[in-house]
Amino acid sequence: MKAADFHALLAIEHLDACLTEVDETLDLSMLGTGELVEPSRRMLRAGGKRLRPLLTIASAVASDPTMSMRPLDMRVRRGAAAVELVHVGSLVHDDIMDEALSRRGVPTVNSVEGSNQALLVGDFMLARAGVEAARVSADVAMSLAVTISDLCDGQSLEGNYQGQPTRTVDDAIESIKGKTGALMRAACDIGALAVGRTDLADAFGSYGMNFGIAFQLIDDLLDLLSTEELMGKPVNNDVRAGVYTVPALFAVQEATGTARDRLLTAMLAAPTDAAAAAEFHATVLASSAVEATMGLVNRYNELARNALEVVPASRTRDGLLEVPQRYLDGIIAEKVPPQRR
Ligand code: IPE
Ligand code: IPE
Ligand code: MG
Ligand code: MG
Repeated sequence: MKAADFHALLAIEHLDACLTEVDETLDLSMLGTGELVEPSRRMLRAGGKRLRPLLTIASAVASDPTMSMRPLDMRVRRGAAAVELVHVGSLVHDDIMDEALSRRGVPTVNSVEGSNQALLVGDFMLARAGVEAARVSADVAMSLAVTISDLCDGQSLEGNYQGQPTRTVDDAIESIKGKTGALMRAACDIGALAVGRTDLADAFGSYGMNFGIAFQLIDDLLDLLSTEELMGKPVNNDVRAGVYTVPALFAVQEATGTARDRLLTAMLAAPTDAAAAAEFHATVLASSAVEATMGLVNRYNELARNALEVVPASRTRDGLLEVPQRYLDGIIAEKVPPQRR
């Protein structure tokens, strides 16, 4: 999913140049020679879709179509960088918890520098995000700080349910709202806040939250449908990390009798037993869990669209309405091998 795919849709002529400027701000936020800088840069520069900075820029343009694009308004540039820093910092922490070895196609900080160092690298990036946000406004700094605390709550909720394959889909959605939705909410409301449109922040925030929930559900599906080469991170990893995602929970809901017992047993054994992980994988794919999860994705995408109804119509606002569906179609085409679509 390249920024270019969104150019015409969002009617932002210099989107690539804007994203390059955000990358420059990310580089500048990592100046120095301390030991934390090198692994931070490795993760930041390894790529990533830059979806959240893109949403910040688009939300800002839709909030104030007259804002400077060349160069990108400094408030938006810093706001977008702050959001990406929280994103990558939280992924560094997530990889410690999931014991993941690769991220964005490069080795994780926990796997190279060790978990203790990864803890500090993540903290370092979150703090640098706070610096960028504080430079924009108190509103932006507040949104970001609330988001980081929501992220911790969501991640903690997820952890509480580790090893509990009978948790409900609603419980899983609650943790998704915190661990992923909150940051997408911030990516969008910070766009409005950075250009002083506090009155539009809730609408953009709700758009981001609902798209964020759909986005995480898609990520959970990709863990089951994609490959490590296509994803740049391990797949079928959630169950091996003891994380029971929405598709897995749908499969449990659907199963009955001994099939259900077998599935639950496989889920519990998956972290240490490759055959159990493979059995889980095959069982979920043979069930209607993927379809049921896609149904939820479509529901949250619809809620995201509805949230922008109160935002004045513009080409960029109208483009944002299409982004969740385009993202879904694009990522499936890009990451799911044809035989699994
Ligand atoms: C990964 O986010 C973490 C989730 C919330 C699923 P992305 O899929 O946006 O990761 P990058 O930024 O492209 O690496
Ligand atoms: C998203 O959860 C992580 C955060 C929001 C911190 P995942 O554990 O699903 O993310 P990936 O799959 O490792 O990218
Ligand atoms: Mg993870
Ligand atoms: Mg995942």
